[in-house]
Amino acid sequence: MEVLEAIRGRRSIRKYKPQPIPDEVVEKILEAGRWAPSGGNIQPWIFIVVRDRATLEMIRKVSPGYLGTAPLAIVVCSDKQRAFQVGGRLGRDYMTIADCAMAVQNMLLAAYALGLGTCVVKSFSPIAVREILEIPDGIEPELIVVVGYPDERPVVPHRFSIEEITYLDKYGNKFVRKGP
Ligand SMILES: Cc1cc2nc3c(=O)[nH]c(=O)nc-3n(C[C@H](O)[C@H](O)[C@H](O)COP(=O)(O)O)c2cc1C
Repeated sequence: MEVLEAIRGRRSIRKYKPQPIPDEVVEKILEAGRWAPSGGNIQPWIFIVVRDRATLEMIRKVSPGYLGTAPLAIVVCSDKQRAFQVGGRLGRDYMTIADCAMAVQNMLLAAYALGLGTCVVKSFSPIAVREILEIPDGIEPELIVVVGYPDERPVVPHRFSIEEITYLDKYGNKFVRKGP
C-alpha cells in the first residue's frame, strides 16, 4: 500500500473482530515502530505486547478511553532514565513523548496496510497499567495501541483544511493552495 493512501485511509477503530493476529503480522507492526525517528536516535521506546485475554481485560478496566475488545494491545513505554542520561531534561520530559508518538504512528500505518484496525489510547491510569504489567520505575507507559481486525467503518472525522492550519513564510500570512 502506498504511504499516502495509508495516511489518508487509516481510522481509529473501536470495534474489532475476535480473530487473532498472526505472530508475523505483529512482528511487522513492531518492526515499523522500531524504525521511527527519535531525538538523538535515543530510541527510548519499549513495547509491551499484550495478548493474554485476562491482562487485556484488566488494562481495559483501568482505561476509560479503551473502547471495544481486541485480541492485542501494544503498550508503548519510554525509558525515562536512559533518556535523561543521554538527553538531559529535554530528552526525558519532551523527546520521549515525541519519540513514542513517532513509533506509534508508524505502527498505526503499518497495521492499517496489513488490514488491521488500531486505536491509540491515552486515557488510561498509568499507575494501574504499571502495576498490571509490572513496569519498573524509570519506565513510563506513554500510549496504548489497541490492535485488531476492524468490525466497523467509522465516519471520516473532520480535519481542518490546509488553509486553516498553514501560513506562508511568516505567521498570519495566508497560504494559498495551488493544487486541486
Ligand atoms: C495522543 C492520542 C491520544 C488518543 N487517546 C484516545 C483515547 O484515549 N481513546 C480513544 O478512543 N481514542 C483516542 N485517540 C484517537 C483519537 O480520538 C482519533 O485519532 C481522532 O478522533 C481522529 O480520528 P481518526 O484517528 O479516525 O482519524 C487518541 C489519539 C491520539 C493521537
